[in-house]
Amino acid sequence: MKLYIFLLPFIMGTLSCEDMSDKVFLFPAPTASAHVTLKPEIKKSLQNVTICLRSYTELTREYSLFSMAASGVDNAVLICTRSPNVLIYVLQEEKTFKIDPETLAWKHTCATWDSTTGVIQLWVNGKLYPRNVAKKGLIITDEASIILGQDQDTFGGKFDIGQSFVGEISDVHMWDYNLTPDEIKGVMSGHIKGNHINWNSLNYDIKGNVLVQPKLYCKSWECASSTVKESIVG
Ligand SMILES: *[C@@H]1O[C@H](CO)[C@@H](O)[C@H](O)[C@H]1NC(C)=O
Repeated sequence: MKLYIFLLPFIMGTLSCEDMSDKVFLFPAPTASAHVTLKPEIKKSLQNVTICLRSYTELTREYSLFSMAASGVDNAVLICTRSPNVLIYVLQEEKTFKIDPETLAWKHTCATWDSTTGVIQLWVNGKLYPRNVAKKGLIITDEASIILGQDQDTFGGKFDIGQSFVGEISDVHMWDYNLTPDEIKGVMSGHIKGNHINWNSLNYDIKGNVLVQPKLYCKSWECASSTVKESIVG
C-alpha cells in the first residue's frame, strides 16, 4: 500500500506523455466542448512552423483541424476545412487554398509558415498547392494553446459547435522550422517526427467526449501498428 502511494505520482506523470503511434483520437459527435489540448515539448516563440496530421471525417460543413491560439490572438495558426477550400490563418490573417475534391479516406495535411518571407505552404496527401503569403516578419509568442477538435474563439476556449470536428485524427506532429518537400514525404511514411509536438511522445489532455482508439485501417500510408501490419500481410 505504501509503495502504491509512493509510485502513483510517477505513474500519472508517465501517463501524460504517451506513444500514440498505433492510436487515433475519435471525436464521435458535434459538440461545443469536446477537445484535446496538446502541450509542446518546450515553450518557445515561433518564427517558422510546420504542422502535419491525418484526419478522417464524413463532415461536409466547415470544421477545424488544428487550432493554435497565442496571447491576444485566437487564430495564431488555424487549419480549417470549408469544402472545397482549406483555410489557413496565421496571426488572424486568413488565406484560402482551393483543393481537389475530397473522397472519404484518410487525408494527410501539412502546413508550413516561414516568418522571414511570410510564405505558407499547404500539402494535402503529398501534393503542394499554390503558395500564399501572410504576416511576413511577425512571430508567434510562446504563450500558446494548441487544441484539436474545436476552433478557439478565445485563448483556450469559446468553441462553436458549427466548426467542431467529428471523425478521427492521428499522427499530429509540429516543428519549429519548415520541412523540405522530402521531409514532408518522410512524415507521410512515418519516418520523421515533430520536434515541437511529437505523436510518438504526446503530452495531451482530453476534455469531454473524445476517445483514444486503436488505428485499424491503413492503405496508402504506412501504419505503425504491428497488429494492423500483420493483418494486412496475413
Ligand atoms: C526561419 O527560416 C529561415 C529560412 O527561410 C531562416 O533564415 C531563419 O533563420 C529561420 N528562423 C529561425 C528562428 O529559425
